Amino acid sequence: RILFLSILGLCDELALVDVMEDKLKGEMMDLQHGSLFLHTHKIVADKDYAVTANSKIVVVTAGVRQQEGESRLNLVQRNVNVFKFIIPQVVKYSPNCIILVVSNPVDILTYITWKLSGLPKNRVIGSGCNLDTARFRYLMSERLGIHPSSCHGWILGEHGDSSVAVWSGVNVAGVCLQELNPAMGTDKDPENWKEIHKQVVASAYEVIKLKGYTNWAIGFSVADLCETILKNLYRVHSVATLVKGMYGIENEVFLSLPSVLCASGLTSVINQKLKDDEVSQLRKSADTLWNVQKDIKDL
Ligand SMILES: NC(=O)c1ccc[n+]([C@@H]2O[C@H](COP(=O)([O-])OP(=O)(O)OC[C@H]3O[C@@H](n4cnc5c(N)ncnc54)[C@H](O)[C@@H]3O)[C@@H](O)[C@H]2O)c1
Repeated sequence: RILFLSILGLCDELALVDVMEDKLKGEMMDLQHGSLFLHTHKIVADKDYAVTANSKIVVVTAGVRQQEGESRLNLVQRNVNVFKFIIPQVVKYSPNCIILVVSNPVDILTYITWKLSGLPKNRVIGSGCNLDTARFRYLMSERLGIHPSSCHGWILGEHGDSSVAVWSGVNVAGVCLQELNPAMGTDKDPENWKEIHKQVVASAYEVIKLKGYTNWAIGFSVADLCETILKNLYRVHSVATLVKGMYGIENEVFLSLPSVLCASGLTSVINQKLKDDEVSQLRKSADTLWNVQKDIKDL
């Protein structure tokens, strides 16, 4: 999935790191052979993190992935151990970088990365619900026959089973759909909009069941985040950030809220006016993460 960074011409240098040396060399060569079509003049790979020195962004996708039917939270301790090895190396060679965490469970691993890296919180970002929001806007677009870029809606909270659909904010051209259909998002909704949030939550499980892994949509969505950061665009994305103190959340957890991204990282969080039930779902999402996070060993 890192490949998209190069394909979209976002960076002039791309460094790949993995522990599987043959796979790494194969990926590097395959990419280099496409150089004629790219604007990334230097593509390198090594298992030594020295190859990443002075990176602007480091995208971390290493670690184990979900097996069929496995939840993201189940991966936590195995991937924490992987991160204990990776993150100190990343920071050693690129002390000024922004780290974008993609590995699952992404919200918890973003917290782990923040702790292990010692970087300020604005430079440790989790891809979080950026993908869930994209999935939601796609499904909304299918229903309405309008391009996803004109279908506005936000998925917040945990990237996973407890994510929160902000029905009160769903709109097309400023027309609030919940004002037209007050039951939107509830069990009493005759149009059953809730179903598309269920589909968002089930998406990864379904794709993994069908093809074994997900890569295209997560690749596009991570490339989109990198574009905002590298081009200093100040766009708003649903990404995981430290939310302690917001919406009454008391624990040190990372989860997704609409966040402004630019070349220096995450500059601010948009304070959406959420309905009471949306706030309580967000708190529940934070509790779900905290309940797993508090038991992580040897941090
Ligand atoms: N946040 C999201 O929306 C999202 C979407 C898709 C996948 N993911 C997550 O991304 C991660 C990777 O998924 P994938 O499908 O690419 O898995 P994958 O198994 O294809 O790739 C993981 C890679 O990590 C490498 N690795 C393992 N330990 C390492 C270490 N110590 N140092 C360097 N590299 C190491 C492996 O060799 C492997 O090549 C998983 O945790 C998955 O759940 C997240």
